[in-house]
Amino acid sequence: MAAATAEISLQSGLRYLPGRLSRAEQENLVEIIRGVVAEAPLYVPVMPGSGRPMSVRMTNCGPLGWVTDKERGYRYQPTHPVTGKPWPDIPEVLLDLWRELSGHPRDPEACLVNFYTDDAKMGLHQDRDETDFSAPVLSISLGDTCLFRIGGLARTDRTKSLKLESGDVFLLGGEGRLCFHGVDRIYPGTSTLLKSGGRINLTLRRVNP
Ligand code: SIN
Ligand code: FE2
Repeated sequence: MAAATAEISLQSGLRYLPGRLSRAEQENLVEIIRGVVAEAPLYVPVMPGSGRPMSVRMTNCGPLGWVTDKERGYRYQPTHPVTGKPWPDIPEVLLDLWRELSGHPRDPEACLVNFYTDDAKMGLHQDRDETDFSAPVLSISLGDTCLFRIGGLARTDRTKSLKLESGDVFLLGGEGRLCFHGVDRIYPGTSTLLKSGGRINLTLRRVNP
């Protein structure tokens, strides 16, 4: 499908860029993310209060990383919660993509790495732990296709579902910066990018003004 006709109608500030990354770019990114994970291992985040584990495994790169635990809840911090070490740097290719697509003058401070196994999902939520919402959240999908749900600024607003495939980029910016979103399911076996299957999602975020 031509890029122009693949554009589905979305609320202002949301941008869906299907197939933005070539296969070679995706393969390169996977190698780079392997390096990040070797330094900052994936861990199981838990929900604030209940301590219930999330089905997605996480790590970060950048001066800040998004973390959650039972006692202190959702926040950004400069160190890995398990190793206590600073997060690895955000890879240059991701900074380049941010500079090209974000329309924001400053570089991202955090890159959250989410890893989804076959039955992982992520409930509908807003990304609102940043102190400044003027920069978009830039999301990159790698590996198996997922069913992504995007709503409005209220939890009860109507939602649209779209399949995010490997190499797709999605931006939540402007009036869409705080739109509710989540991942309803993974479609196992839909991509050959990751040798053992699953899906990686990277989100680049600016935390401070
Ligand atoms: C997120 O909202 O942090 C992840 C979204 C995704 O996995 O596509
Ligand atoms: Fe999110």
